[in-house]
Amino acid sequence: MLILGVESSCDETGIALYDTERGLLAHTLHSQVEMHAEYGGVVPELASRDHIRRVLPLTALALKNANKTLQDIDGIAYTQGPGLSGALLVGTSFAESLAFALQVPTINVHHLEGHLLAPLLEDNPPAFPFVALLVSGGHSQLMRVDGIGKYALLGDTLDDAAGEAFDKTAKLLGLGYPGGPALARLAEQGKAHFTLPRPMLNSKDLNFSFSGLKTAVLTLVNKHQPMDEATRADIAWEFQEAVTEILTLKCMSALRETGLDSLVVSGGVGANSKLREKLNAATKRKLCKVSYPRLEFCTDNGAMIAFAGAMRLKAMQENGNTNINTKHSFSVRPRWDLAELQAP
Ligand code: KG4
Ligand code: ZN
Repeated sequence: MLILGVESSCDETGIALYDTERGLLAHTLHSQVEMHAEYGGVVPELASRDHIRRVLPLTALALKNANKTLQDIDGIAYTQGPGLSGALLVGTSFAESLAFALQVPTINVHHLEGHLLAPLLEDNPPAFPFVALLVSGGHSQLMRVDGIGKYALLGDTLDDAAGEAFDKTAKLLGLGYPGGPALARLAEQGKAHFTLPRPMLNSKDLNFSFSGLKTAVLTLVNKHQPMDEATRADIAWEFQEAVTEILTLKCMSALRETGLDSLVVSGGVGANSKLREKLNAATKRKLCKVSYPRLEFCTDNGAMIAFAGAMRLKAMQENGNTNINTKHSFSVRPRWDLAELQAP
């Protein structure tokens, strides 16, 4: 079964072809990062217009790279939410109209389910059940995952998401958008010099809070004006140290509390090498397994959507579930709680 995946929830247009027998055949991506950098963040209207420009050429290129034609497609998976409504509408309307023309079913995918399942695209994928740490620009969640659509929330952020904290702190340090990768690069030049708090590190639950950390950085920045390059790098080093320490400790607590021995990390912050270093060491000590998506699939992409859609469609067919959208009416879900998802 060949599934076309379409991602357009924010500032990346991603297209992919996933074959349930042969795996990922092709994926194409256009990132709008440069376009939005000028404004210091994503401009929704510009994002929507750019998705319109990219979606057809990226689909044609993916088909060409996979040596497939439109007629080979058995189903189309697309991100229905959460995300920017205009951006979501581009991918959604494209996917539903193409599916109508080809007379194939569509699978509406939750963007975070895509992130959550992305590590399963790799060789030697983790088996269910596992604990998942989802750390993106909009989310910091710990989940227990027992299967496709079987997600139980273990912990969440009380304020900023981890990626958001990276982005806001990067801004305070005068770095451009998106801040996460830039801050990580600056931190490489830094060393242990300042001390920042570790909010909620010793709270008895699996929740996070990152906004206090950002405020503490602001205080440091104000105190050290004018700021030289070494000071900026040392602040970046300590900030990254604090966030990755908190995330690692909470992951280990989640493994302990659930009694599971497998951890899966996904979302943009999952690309952070300090975080990977700490998680690798901590899981090794406890004889647990840790899995990540390849770096390019940590951030938004079409492959994770094609994969999540393929898993859902396969499961629906195996269960004799014929509740597949063949009418091709559509809507987007800019706000959509992952906990609302059900097993196919
Ligand atoms: O998953 P993603 O592409 O988009 C959302 O669905 O939010 O995540 C983007 C977030 C941004 O906040 C970005 O700054 C952060 O992930 N990010 C990083 C790194 N690469 C991306 N944060 C820290 N270190 C990185 N290497
Ligand atoms: Zn994302």
